[in-house]
Amino acid sequence: MDYFEYKNKTLYCEEVKVEDIIAEVGTPAYIYSKNAIISRYQEIEDAYRDVNTTICFSVKSNSNLAICKALADEGAGFDVVSGGELFRALKAGGNPSNIVYAGVGKSDGEIRYALENDIFMFNVESQAELKHISALAVKAGKTARVALRINPDIDAKTHAKTTTGKKENKFGIDFTAAEKIMKQSGKYPNVDLCGIHVHLGSPIYSADPYAQALKKVSEFIQRCRKMGRNIEYLNVGGGYCISYTGEEVMRPADYAAKIIPFVKEMQCNMVMEPGRFIVGNSGILVTRVLYTKEASFGKKFVVCDAGMNDLIRPALYDAFHRMWPVTTNVKMPAVEMPGDKVVKKGMEVVDVVGPVCESSDVFAKDRALPKLDEADLLTIFSAGAYGFAMSSSYNSRPRPCEVLVDGKQFRVTRKRETYDDLIRGEVR
Ligand code: LLP
Repeated sequence: MDYFEYKNKTLYCEEVKVEDIIAEVGTPAYIYSKNAIISRYQEIEDAYRDVNTTICFSVKSNSNLAICKALADEGAGFDVVSGGELFRALKAGGNPSNIVYAGVGKSDGEIRYALENDIFMFNVESQAELKHISALAVKAGKTARVALRINPDIDAKTHAKTTTGKKENKFGIDFTAAEKIMKQSGKYPNVDLCGIHVHLGSPIYSADPYAQALKKVSEFIQRCRKMGRNIEYLNVGGGYCISYTGEEVMRPADYAAKIIPFVKEMQCNMVMEPGRFIVGNSGILVTRVLYTKEASFGKKFVVCDAGMNDLIRPALYDAFHRMWPVTTNVKMPAVEMPGDKVVKKGMEVVDVVGPVCESSDVFAKDRALPKLDEADLLTIFSAGAYGFAMSSSYNSRPRPCEVLVDGKQFRVTRKRETYDDLIRGEVR
C-alpha cells in the first residue's frame, strides 16, 4: 500500500488524512498519491538505465490528465490505444515523439490524427491496418514509423480475459505472416518498418513469459535483418504485476534481469508500456457504508455507495482488492490472501456490495472485516489502475471524483459528475 499508511488508527495518503479529504469531496472518491506514482515510474527508469529505453505510460490504466501530466513532467512517453487517449496524452503535455499507438482497430480518422501529430510509432496489428497507414501517410506526405506487433503464442499465465499473446487472441500478427510483411515491405510506401512490439497480457507474475517471447522475437529480428530490414526498436509492452494482497511480488529490476540481455543481444533501443505497476497501488477508492443488512439465515451484507460502475474489476475478473475501514481500532494485517477469513476481535464476515442492480455488483464475498456501521468509510485498495478508467455511469450513477495528493496538499483533478453530466448530448 505504497504511500497509504495507518497512523493513530486512521488512514493517511502521504501526509493527508483520508477522512479530511472525504469531508471535503464526499464519496465515492478515487484518491491517488502523486509521490507513489513518481517513485514507481523512477523505479522502472532505474531498472533499465543500462539500455536506451523509452518508457511509455499506458494511458488506458489511468487516463486522468493530472496523472498523465505528472508523468510527462518526469519525462514519460505514452502508450495510447485510441484517438481519445492520444488527445489526452497531448493535452497532458505529452511529447508526440514519445507516443506509441497500439490497438487492433484504428480507424482512418484516428490514424490521420496520429500522423498529423507526428507520433513516435504505430504498433501495427494486421496487414490490413498497415495498408491503411501506408495510404494515409502517402496522402499526408508523412512517413509513419511502424513496429509490427507480434503474437508470439506465449501463455503469460494470467486471467483469460487479460491474456493477449496466445495465438487464439485477436492481438498481433503471427511470425509467418509478419515475415511475409517484412519481405514485401516495398508494398507499403511511406512506412518505416523499424520495430517489433510484443505485449503478452497483464498482470504477469513471472519474467519467464517475457524471456520465452523474446527468445522467439530475437530469432525473428535476426531473420528480418538478414533481409535487410533495419529493426532499431524493441517494444516489450506492459504487464508488470503489483501486489493486491500485501505479499512481496516481482519488481521491475527482477523483470529487467531477464529482459535486458535480450535487448543488448539484439542491439535495439527499448520501448516499454507499463501501466498498472505505476498507478495500481498508488490509488484507492473510498466508499461510504449506506446500510448493513442481515438475512435471517445469518448472511451479512455491507451495502456501500460505490458500485461495479465505479470499479468493475471484481465483477469482471473476480479480482481481489483488499479493503479496510478508513478509521478503525483493528490493525490491518500486512498480508491477506483471497479466501483468508481470519476473524479477530471486533471483526465479522460479510459480503461487501454496491447499489447497482446486478448480482455481480459485489466487491468482496465472505470477507473478514472490522465491524462496519452505517456512514463508516471503507477503503478499497490497489484501485489506481483500471479503476476510474473503466468506470461507467451505468444505472445513471454519476461517476466519482478523482483527487491527487502531493505531500500535505490535495486537489480534485476530476470533479464528481452531476445529473446534468449524465444527460449531456442527449435530446428528448
Ligand atoms: N501495452 C498494451 C499493448 C496493452 O494492451 C496494455 C494493457 C499495456 C501495455 C499495459 O499493461 P499493464 O502494464 O497495465 O499491465 N483491465 C484489466 C487489464 C487490461 C490490460 C489491457 N492492456 C485489469 O483491470 O486487470
